[in-house]
Amino acid sequence: MLLLSVVLLVLTAACFRLYQALRPPPHLQHIPSVPIIPLLFSYLSGEVEAQRVKRLVLPFARRIGTDVVLVFCLGDWMVQILEPKVARQMLENPHAYKKRQSKDMLLWRLIGNDNIFMSNGEMAKRHLRITRDALYKTSPQNIFVDLARTTISLIENGGRIRWDDYAIRYTLDAFGLAVVGYNFDALRNPDGSFVRKYHHVMTAIANPLYVVFPILERWLPRRAVRGLVDAFVSDLCQILEEKRKTPGDDVITYMFQDPNMTEIEYRDNCIVMFVAGHDTTAGAIASIVYYLARNLDIQEKVREEVFEVLGGDDPHPNHFNRTPYLNAALKEAMRCNTPSNTTLPRVADIPLQIGGYLVPPGTSIALNICAAHYNDSVWDDPYKFNPERFLEPSQGEGGGWSTFSMGPRSCVARNFSLLEQRVLVSMLLREFRWTLPKGSIHQDYIKNGFSAFALSIPENLELDFEPIR
Ligand code: HEM
Ligand SMILES: *[C@@H]1O[C@H](CO)[C@@H](O)[C@H](O)[C@H]1NC(C)=O
Ligand SMILES: *[C@@H]1O[C@H](CO)[C@@H](O)[C@H](O)[C@H]1NC(C)=O
Ligand SMILES: *[C@@H]1O[C@H](CO)[C@@H](O)[C@H](O)[C@H]1NC(C)=O
Ligand SMILES: *[C@@H]1O[C@H](CO)[C@@H](O)[C@H](O)[C@H]1NC(C)=O
Repeated sequence: MLLLSVVLLVLTAACFRLYQALRPPPHLQHIPSVPIIPLLFSYLSGEVEAQRVKRLVLPFARRIGTDVVLVFCLGDWMVQILEPKVARQMLENPHAYKKRQSKDMLLWRLIGNDNIFMSNGEMAKRHLRITRDALYKTSPQNIFVDLARTTISLIENGGRIRWDDYAIRYTLDAFGLAVVGYNFDALRNPDGSFVRKYHHVMTAIANPLYVVFPILERWLPRRAVRGLVDAFVSDLCQILEEKRKTPGDDVITYMFQDPNMTEIEYRDNCIVMFVAGHDTTAGAIASIVYYLARNLDIQEKVREEVFEVLGGDDPHPNHFNRTPYLNAALKEAMRCNTPSNTTLPRVADIPLQIGGYLVPPGTSIALNICAAHYNDSVWDDPYKFNPERFLEPSQGEGGGWSTFSMGPRSCVARNFSLLEQRVLVSMLLREFRWTLPKGSIHQDYIKNGFSAFALSIPENLELDFEPIR
């Protein structure tokens, strides 16, 4: 009975909050807003961003003829830019800061604010320099090669493989060994405690209701989930402490060489790299292998290039200067299913002209990467997987490909992630052919799981692998 009244109370409060939220605030009403009711249905049904963009956002923008829209998103009204050129102006504007995120949402409780990802100004510059230097000093290719070899040995004689799972385990181990110098052993030991805890935390954080209405975190605090988040952070701290005693060729060891970083900064940067670097690359790896399964002629063409350039050698970064088609295929997979569908929201301290609209200070503004990648005046047949387009300068990168964002705060680890992908995919191509099973749930288009981190990872992606020899 008590429970029922609490539920009713909460529902009433939520309805009221919803009612208030249905209308954009007066100072933003001049910006065209994507109709809220279909949008809420879309969020609560767990529809993924790519589908939402294709079904709701782009048709709406096209009808109105705008490249900037207002969207109700994560409990906030946000200006979303759909056009990379307009976004670049904003992302390069020194008045646009990364928005500090409320600690209500557990994601931000996990990440904190004093790290390379969330900070601004001098602090951001310092973290960026330290992180970039550390990434340059690390040479992770041998780690990636070893992990790719392990992956191949686990696939062994082929058969039906849950590929998204392998992709996540590979990137988890890659992060562990190359960034924090720790062996999670996720590939060989998928039920290991760290891996289990991590998935537990992520699933709990990703509850759609809490993602759409972060305020619920205050009304109906999830103590158990908070406990999980805190335990996860303390596990990482322990790994860091051990790392101090045993330096190696990993990003954190090189970051430790800077005498001015505090313990908290190390911890937060480490968590940020984990969150920013692991599911994103896993999504990219799951997606490219999917697209190659659906396009067997392209798979064959990439394989030929790999054999021609690498022969039987272990992949080295230099090889990949000579594999334009592989590189194009990887970029095209990240265009079609961009691992991160958005940049973090920025706010400005002055009114900003964004496209045709004057946006008041303090408003959240972000680039909608999905929308940028599906604009049919830029990309011919945008829903088709076609690596060739990246071999033409006007399409490809020049066409506004923005998977890693752009401007001074774009992804610091772009090259690290590309190498991680290239090594695994090229080695896989030498060992196996793979296809999408008949009746796959991904037959028509890729189906991503719902993720709190706005990331796209295909869910339950089963593929049939067959050894080449
Ligand atoms: C395919 C893989 C990846 C994608 C698609 C990706 C995407 C992005 C994007 C879009 C941003 C900019 C966010 C914004 O503008 O608000 C970003 C920043 C960042 N990424 Fe990545 N990332 C990937 C891999 C990685 C990896 C492997 C790491 C770490 C090892 C990493 C670490 C970071 C960090 C630290 C930032 C913050 C840079 C700054 O704020 O100045 N990312 N990434
Ligand atoms: C698509 O790209 C064209 C050319 O850059 C641009 O004029 C248009 O506004 C874009 N459409 C959207 C919805 O952003
Ligand atoms: C550390 O901070 C001190 C004082 O702010 C500064 O003089 C020094 O150059 C810094 N060292 C590094 C490596 O950044
Ligand atoms: C990645 O590598 C390219 C080519 O070696 C280099 O020009 C670029 O600056 C690097 N980018 C980052 C973000 O490290
Ligand atoms: C990206 O996707 C997530 C999850 O689907 C969603 O919550 C978020 O609003 C999307 N980002 C943008 C810019 O629409």
